[in-house]
Formats: sequence, C-alpha cells, structure tokens
Amino acid sequence: MPLDGQGQDVGSEEEGGGKEHCHTAWTAAASSSMWLYFLFVCGGVMAALYALWSWLIPAVVQYNPLLVVLWHDIIVQRVLNFLTGSTQPQRILKAVQNNATWGDAESVIATIDNYCRRKEWAMNVGDDKGPILDSVVSEVSPKVALELGTYCGYSTIRIARLLSPGSCLITLEFNPDCAIIARQIIAWAGLQDRVQLLEGPSKDLIPQMKESFRVKSFDFVFLDHWKEYYLPDTKLLEECGLLRKGTVLLADNVICPGTPKYLEYVRNSPRYESCYFKSHLEYTKVEDGLEKSVFLG
Ligand SMILES: C[S@@+](CC[C@H](N)C(=O)[O-])C[C@H]1O[C@@H](n2cnc3c(N)ncnc32)[C@H](O)[C@@H]1O
Repeated sequence: MPLDGQGQDVGSEEEGGGKEHCHTAWTAAASSSMWLYFLFVCGGVMAALYALWSWLIPAVVQYNPLLVVLWHDIIVQRVLNFLTGSTQPQRILKAVQNNATWGDAESVIATIDNYCRRKEWAMNVGDDKGPILDSVVSEVSPKVALELGTYCGYSTIRIARLLSPGSCLITLEFNPDCAIIARQIIAWAGLQDRVQLLEGPSKDLIPQMKESFRVKSFDFVFLDHWKEYYLPDTKLLEECGLLRKGTVLLADNVICPGTPKYLEYVRNSPRYESCYFKSHLEYTKVEDGLEKSVFLG
C-alpha cells in the first residue's frame, strides 16, 4: 500500500474521497427521488381533488335536490367567487363573450348551457326544460309576453328569439347586478329591440304595467322568480286586469324547489285549465317540471 511522507495511507484517502463522493451522490439521488416522490404525491392529491370536484361529487349529488343546492349553489359558487373575485353572472357573461357568436341567439343559449353543464351549475331554465318553454311560446305566439325573474337573461333569450316581428317581451328583475349582466347578454344575442328589462320587484312593477308601460293584457307569462311570489303575483296580475281569456301562464320549478300553493291554486281554480310537463331540474337528474295554466277568464 503506498505511503506518503507522513506515513499516511494515500489509498485510504482516495478511498475516503471516493466514499465522500459516493455519499454526496447518494444524498443528491436520495433528495431528488424524495422530490420526485413529493411531486408525485402532490400530483396524485391534486388529480384526486380535481376528479372529486369536477366529476365525482357532481355525479353523486345530481340525483338529490338538497345536495344539488348545497353543493352547486352554496359551496361551488362561493369557492369560485372567492378564487376568481367575480360573481356567477359575470362568469357567465365572460363565457358568452369568449365563446358565443355576436348577434346569434342560438349560439348564446348553447354557450350558457355548455358552461353550466361543464363548469358551474346555474339557475337558468336550462336545456331540458328549455325545449318545453320553446314549444309553449311557439304555440301561443304571444304579441306581448311577461317574464318574472330574468337572472342572466337565458330564458329571456329563449323566449324573445321565438317572437314574431312587432312582438315584445317585458322581463322583471329586482337584482341590479343581474340586470346589468342580463342586458349585455341579451344584446350579445341581438335581441335588445324585442326585450324590455325592468328593474324592480314584481309586486311594484305589475301594478304599473297598464299606465306606465301601456300593456292592455299579456298573452303569455313565464313565472321563474322566487317561488313564494308565484301565487301572490298571479293574483296581482288577475286584479290588475293583465290576464285575458286565453292568456297562458307557464311556471318553472313547480316540483323543485316547488311551488305547492301556486299548484294547488291553478289546479283547483275554475278560472284555469292546467297541465304539468315533467322534466328535470336544470343541468341535473332531479325531477322538476313546468306547469302550463290557461286563464279562462
Ligand atoms: C331562477 S332565476 C331566473 C332564471 C331565468 N328565468 C332563466 O331561466 O334564465 C330567478 C331570478 O328572479 C329574480 N327575482 C326573484 N324574485 C323577484 C321579484 N319578486 N321581482 C323581480 N325579480 C325577482 C332573482 O333576483 C333571480 O335573478
């Protein structure tokens, strides 16, 4: 074994250096594999959370009305509001501006449905009940129509695109933030000339229809505002003489969340002929439907 001046073992120094090098290489390899492991675990956790958030939980809750509201309307919406610093109507407007063709109502409807099915549930009448609404509007072919509850203007667009020239739709919305967005979405669909959006509570606006808005009576009324107002507003429309013989009322969400007092009234009153169209709560598998009631005078 070669010795240096001090009688030290050179070979063992080389061996020691080698060991040290080996140790450093081993530590580097261990730390990079620890990092790889850490990234792998993080990636796995993120993928699992993403699957839970966007697929598993929505797939499970879509059969239960309470879970649908709890998950979509409360949890998801609040998380998205917090993360994006925006409201749901603002996100829907953005989806329309980014994806829908300007002036094309069908493309606006398809964009909103696509957004609400894939990204975030919203309380539009939706693409299951939408065709029922379309067929009733086409059948009635109203000259003057009223909508109670605009939200982002989705059903407004569905109704207004089917109106014949010279007809108009008055839609009422008491939330000014929704009204601002709805006006932009209705304009994007090219329907602003057929739609008059009035801001305020239905109980205040309905009595002004004759004097301030020159409405003699409505041919068609779509009820889709807060459910407790369906019955008082129907009675108010009657009292104000805004329903004529043959006026068609179409009420959304009569099963979910449900409007039992309204249903009892229109189904038992001799002043109405009423029938139910079975469908699903928007963008879910929960049963819901529309009640069509013809005012008999
Ligand atoms: C279910 S959303 C309407 C959805 C819309 N019809 C659609 O299908 O696209 C109900 C809307 O009615 C509005 N609203 C509720 N009660 C109202 C009232 N009494 N007068 C005016 N607007 C009301 C709410 O602010 C909300 O935007």
